[in-house]
Amino acid sequence: MPATTLDFTGRKALVTGGSRGIGRAITIRLAEAGCDVAINYLRNREPAAETAAAVEALGRRALLFKGNVAKVDNHGALFEQLAGESGRLDILISNAASGVIRPAMDLTHRHWTWTMDINAGALLSLAQHAVGLMGEAGGSIVAVSSIGAVRAIPNYAAVGASKAALESLVRHLAVELAPRGVRVNALSAGVVDTEALKHFPNREQLLEESARRTPAGRLTEPKDVADAVLFLTSPLASMMVGQTLTVDGGYSITA
Ligand SMILES: NC(=O)c1ccc[n+]([C@@H]2O[C@H](COP(=O)([O-])OP(=O)(O)OC[C@H]3O[C@@H](n4cnc5c(N)ncnc54)[C@H](OP(=O)(O)O)[C@@H]3O)[C@@H](O)[C@H]2O)c1
Repeated sequence: MPATTLDFTGRKALVTGGSRGIGRAITIRLAEAGCDVAINYLRNREPAAETAAAVEALGRRALLFKGNVAKVDNHGALFEQLAGESGRLDILISNAASGVIRPAMDLTHRHWTWTMDINAGALLSLAQHAVGLMGEAGGSIVAVSSIGAVRAIPNYAAVGASKAALESLVRHLAVELAPRGVRVNALSAGVVDTEALKHFPNREQLLEESARRTPAGRLTEPKDVADAVLFLTSPLASMMVGQTLTVDGGYSITA
């Protein structure tokens, strides 16, 4: 029997928005598998420090990077620092997201570009920098998307469109980078009860309906997403290139 234990010992990962919610679960899962993890966050130092401490308690190295992923002009400095601290990068998880939650008729052009820059634009620049640090050994990039990329959800026009752009960018990057040994995929999650949902005016209804309509009988949890990220970044997924893997307990395939 071939070994199926995933051993990522010595690998270096960067998780954007890796301090809280789904990003935190991904950070911890990668550290459990053996990765040193660079954790990017935007504002909240406390959860970032707490997640870094959890990585270190697992015997791995944690680095903290505060900064807005939408400001691509800062990516050069971020990756220079990463190169100085870690020397290389094996795994990039583009997870940080934000966006304006409003009906399409209430969105301004500024809301639109702001949402696009954080959720889709950041990946292009992050991938361009990451590939340089991955070098000849190659690596793996995973972008976290959502069902709003392919389904219409109330108040989700800007974020949904930005996630659709993200998934398309993943396919284009995947084709360009596969010959260089870098696999790029997306992971689309069902509704997960994180702080992000507090921005939805219909949060309670969203949670209740998702739990009720999910064939697997419960909401998707951060650890479900993290497990699938581990798979996508592992050699078990070596022929998965440019795909969007859905992790939602079957929610999105129901009528
Ligand atoms: N929750 C869901 O139901 C759901 C469903 C499908 C997909 N997703 C996707 O899963 C990913 C994570 O969502 P979540 O629910 O875990 O969110 P969350 O709990 O709100 O956490 C967001 C994380 O991203 C960081 N962040 C936010 N804006 C940033 C920026 N501009 N630059 C750098 N870091 C930034 C935050 O740092 P600070 O704490 O410092 O602000 C935090 O670490 C997103 O891509 C989201 O679209 C979520």
